[in-house]
Amino acid sequence: MLIFLWAEGHDGVIGQDGQLPWHLPADMHFFKTVTTDNTVIAGAKTFESFKRPLPNRTNVVVTHQAADKFPAGVIVLHSIEAIREYARERPTEKLFVVGGAQIFAALLDDVDWLYRTVIDADFDGDTWMPAIDYDQFNLVKSRQGVRDTANPYNYEFEQYQRQ
Ligand SMILES: NC(=O)c1ccc[n+]([C@@H]2O[C@H](COP(=O)([O-])OP(=O)(O)OC[C@H]3O[C@@H](n4cnc5c(N)ncnc54)[C@H](OP(=O)(O)O)[C@@H]3O)[C@@H](O)[C@H]2O)c1
Repeated sequence: MLIFLWAEGHDGVIGQDGQLPWHLPADMHFFKTVTTDNTVIAGAKTFESFKRPLPNRTNVVVTHQAADKFPAGVIVLHSIEAIREYARERPTEKLFVVGGAQIFAALLDDVDWLYRTVIDADFDGDTWMPAIDYDQFNLVKSRQGVRDTANPYNYEFEQYQRQ
């Protein structure tokens, strides 16, 4: 089962200078909670932004680079079709596609679930979420995030299931 997991600000901005445009620890906590003991699938740029493989998760990276450029234990795939095949072979596993924009765009027709954090704020950015046809999905869960000094935005956690 392929699940997109991302956070976006106004206009669907998701990245700036190879990093997230914001600091939102509550969303990082959510990311860790849902992905732990599951699989994360990342494009090479997003994987690089993690600095190291994410602990307690199967780390899959998509790249044109050779597998030996990545730490031991990381599963290296070389095409979008290889991700599809990886997912087909694991129909019961939760495979979290964690970006970035290139990987999301390539898998728009394949994704089963969307886990989106909507941040109600403007950010400078250089990377945006590709357009999603939300008519193909049902919103099945929505929860307001807690705004506090460490998380100084209004934000919402949403989950959509493909119809
Ligand atoms: N807000 C969020 O939730 C969120 C989530 C994820 C990422 N981001 C942000 O988004 C930005 C990165 O996104 P991005 O779109 O620039 O990069 P990306 O999708 O993370 O990675 C792009 C790289 O993936 C590899 N790739 C892409 N298509 C491929 C294919 N068909 N076959 C093999 N390899 C392929 C290539 O790696 P090689 O060059 O190694 O071949 C390519 O350079 C960062 O700022 C990051 O922080 C934000």
